[in-house]
Amino acid sequence: MKSTTDTFGKAPHQPSLWTRADALKVHADDPTTTQPLVSADFPVLSDKVFIWDTMPLRDIDGNITSVDGWSVIFTLTADRHPNDPQYLDQNGNYDITRDWNDRHGRAKMYYWFSRTGKDWKLGGRVMAEGVSPTVREWAGTPILLNEQGEIDLYYTAVTPGATIVKVRGRVVTTEHGVSLVGFEKVKPLFEADGKMYQTEAQNAFWGFRDPWPFRDPKDGKLYMLFEGNVAGERGSHKVGKAEIGDVPPGHEDVGNSRYQTACVGIAVARDKDGDDWEMLPPLLTAVGVNDQTERPHFVFQDGKYYLFTISHTFTYADGVTGPDGVYGFVADSLFGPYVPLNGSGLVLGNPSSQPFQTYSHCVMPNGLVTSFIDSVPAGEDGKQMRIGGTEAPTVGIKIKGQQTFVVAEYDYGFIPPMVDVTLK
Ligand code: FRU
Repeated sequence: MKSTTDTFGKAPHQPSLWTRADALKVHADDPTTTQPLVSADFPVLSDKVFIWDTMPLRDIDGNITSVDGWSVIFTLTADRHPNDPQYLDQNGNYDITRDWNDRHGRAKMYYWFSRTGKDWKLGGRVMAEGVSPTVREWAGTPILLNEQGEIDLYYTAVTPGATIVKVRGRVVTTEHGVSLVGFEKVKPLFEADGKMYQTEAQNAFWGFRDPWPFRDPKDGKLYMLFEGNVAGERGSHKVGKAEIGDVPPGHEDVGNSRYQTACVGIAVARDKDGDDWEMLPPLLTAVGVNDQTERPHFVFQDGKYYLFTISHTFTYADGVTGPDGVYGFVADSLFGPYVPLNGSGLVLGNPSSQPFQTYSHCVMPNGLVTSFIDSVPAGEDGKQMRIGGTEAPTVGIKIKGQQTFVVAEYDYGFIPPMVDVTLK
């Protein structure tokens, strides 16, 4: 990584490495790091829309926040097309799988509200058509700013390009429900720079998205995590000793793993409102290990920094593998060094019998982990796949030092508030 001087004039940190040796310790189906089976008879939130990435309203310190007793979540959302000729198969039946797989191209931000932290009611779209500058509204984070109900929604404006943006609005409550107002002016914040973070010109399969702003509990400054890839032309990355780690004989061959270059990015705000940002070198890189470390987020606990990020089986490099799910790393200070939780990094993965049952896990500071249902084997022979597009059962984990344990399972989409804010 090239040396740059950061805002503090200090030498920049060295990214921590998730190594191939760490990843060799990943084991699917360890009951302490595996999500309980999701049954094929799950309820769906809506038969009109698919939802996937779920973003609970929270404060800048990470606490899940309700307003006037109403919980609010934001979701990536796309219409279901059961009657659209475009999504009928040769026999005239609705091809839900194709509809579901196409959803990323038409993702829009919606919101839902609830009195109970589950049984979510659809509020509607956050931004009117035409407000967001690109076709796709991809994942991010809604932050409740104050008792006036103002919200900064950070998200990713994708196609063309991929830009981290923010839009400000306000939450309004009544006895009967919640509405969001404003969210009319989208402000671009930054894009990949090609020096620390890979650009589209360097790699057509680059990732740059999923902002997660936070206040560092130790230095009180405003930062933001995001997903990136390490800068450089596709294929030019080196998987050397450091990226390989201490592997047993027979595991030295890295195959084509130079194509997998995920990283967790970090930026620091130059102002107190988070309108002006400076990108810093990544906190964590996974060169030679995995190509995607999505939706990075923190839990601050016991004076430590627990960094979580979601990843897929299909994005692992040659010679290493692991389940779809959430992975984690821990450090004593914000800039690391980070070590993989449970030795491997795996915190909560899908069981190998249902490898696509859930995704996009978000670990909340109360130890609850929310995710969405992707697809679950169904039918008598289990050969059909039932598509989800809805909230998965919430899982409880316990975080203890450098280890985590699955300890509980809750209702579908259970996202209880940690603090309630009475609006003025
Ligand atoms: C995770 C994710 C995010 C992205 C969104 C696109 O499920 O890939 O990284 O913002 O979904 O639909």
